[in-house]
Amino acid sequence: IRRNSVLVGGKEYKTDEWTNVPPAIIDLVGRNLHRQPNHPIGIIRSLIEKRLVPLGFTPYNEFSPIVSKYKNFDSLGFPEDHPGRSKSDTYYINKDTLLRTHTSAHEIECFQTTKTPGYLIAADVYRRDTIDRTHYPAFHQMEGARTWSKTEHGDKLADAIRADLEALPDSGIQVEDPNLPFHAGNPKEPAHSEEVSTLLGQHLKRTIEIVMGDMFSAAKAAAIANGSTDPDLHKPLKARWIEAYFPWTSPSWEIEIWWKGEWLEMSGMGVVRQHVYDTAGMSDCVGWAFGIGLERTAMILFGVPDIRLFWSKDPRFLDQFTAGKVTNFEPWSKYPSTSRDVAFWCPEQDVHENDVMEIVRSRGGDLVENVSLVDEFVHPKTNRKSQCYRITYQSMERSLTNDEVNAIQTSVVHDLTSQLGIEVR
Ligand code: PHE
Repeated sequence: IRRNSVLVGGKEYKTDEWTNVPPAIIDLVGRNLHRQPNHPIGIIRSLIEKRLVPLGFTPYNEFSPIVSKYKNFDSLGFPEDHPGRSKSDTYYINKDTLLRTHTSAHEIECFQTTKTPGYLIAADVYRRDTIDRTHYPAFHQMEGARTWSKTEHGDKLADAIRADLEALPDSGIQVEDPNLPFHAGNPKEPAHSEEVSTLLGQHLKRTIEIVMGDMFSAAKAAAIANGSTDPDLHKPLKARWIEAYFPWTSPSWEIEIWWKGEWLEMSGMGVVRQHVYDTAGMSDCVGWAFGIGLERTAMILFGVPDIRLFWSKDPRFLDQFTAGKVTNFEPWSKYPSTSRDVAFWCPEQDVHENDVMEIVRSRGGDLVENVSLVDEFVHPKTNRKSQCYRITYQSMERSLTNDEVNAIQTSVVHDLTSQLGIEVR
């Protein structure tokens, strides 16, 4: 049954052909893990705030996740055909309203209202995605930005940024940065002088290096206290810079950190494009912004193996964490997992992987650990496409019985058939 309105966060919204937010996702709105001081997501938030608030950043933690499509995408210059806008990637409440997909949705209002040079936003964000150890349809991000005004500094703008750069403390980490400050493939904004663009990039990178140095020294101490003998723990942390692309920053980069034998992508960022400040009514300003995934960071720093754990109310999880501290997560023994395959012929209009994921999620919830497409082929004569998905069931809290897994699997197959028009093989 298609209802003509839906209740999200205590407010009623008109639905239309864009509505695709299911009840299980609506239920996650308002959990506010980032505001719980003893929860790993809240701990990472405070760690970053503790480092940056003294440097002039105002923290915001209470924005509602329900935003306009305009704020989330248009105002930042997302091209019309950007995949992020599609119904298969984003939870729409209706054609104009959605669950924000990133904290950048609030950049413009924060630029407008913040009285200090910078701000931080921590918030829950939502994305339709695959199901595995590191992806959950709701997660948390922290965004930070720093602004300088030409009206304030006049032709001393570059000097002002340089002075702020020189005042930043040393990060104590070992940095590899082979990139030019900007170039044709990652250009400076036409409105910025070469000097200003270069300085903004340097100030941004140094600030992020400081935050990384801080977070990872806490994680190193935790790993050493836990008896790890990894020799890297006694060497300076290694970071490297790679180039990136975001519609509203240029040049853009990502930072990677060397941790437990691999390079990990930690945060995306860049020099804010002038059209963003223009939209904010602040054409005289320049600055930078970054975004960091809090779950991803918490999994790395605390050693949490499965993203579902952050939503668990199990005291075996929650009782391990203390405000202000990075500690090593002690897993309890893993309950057994069991897999079921479903193979089907796709309908003519094809099937989007994220739609399969949504059906599995709405029937299996947190009992599903992973879903993967294990086989795909096109029949040479009929031209029909066949897909096979393997669904792995595993509870973090108890052992599952075959009967309950079979019942979930049956309902998943039922919904795939009735909602996506697949034909089971
Ligand atoms: N919002 C971006 C993301 O979700 C991260 C980002 C924030 C990039 C700010 C640039 C500036 O990946």
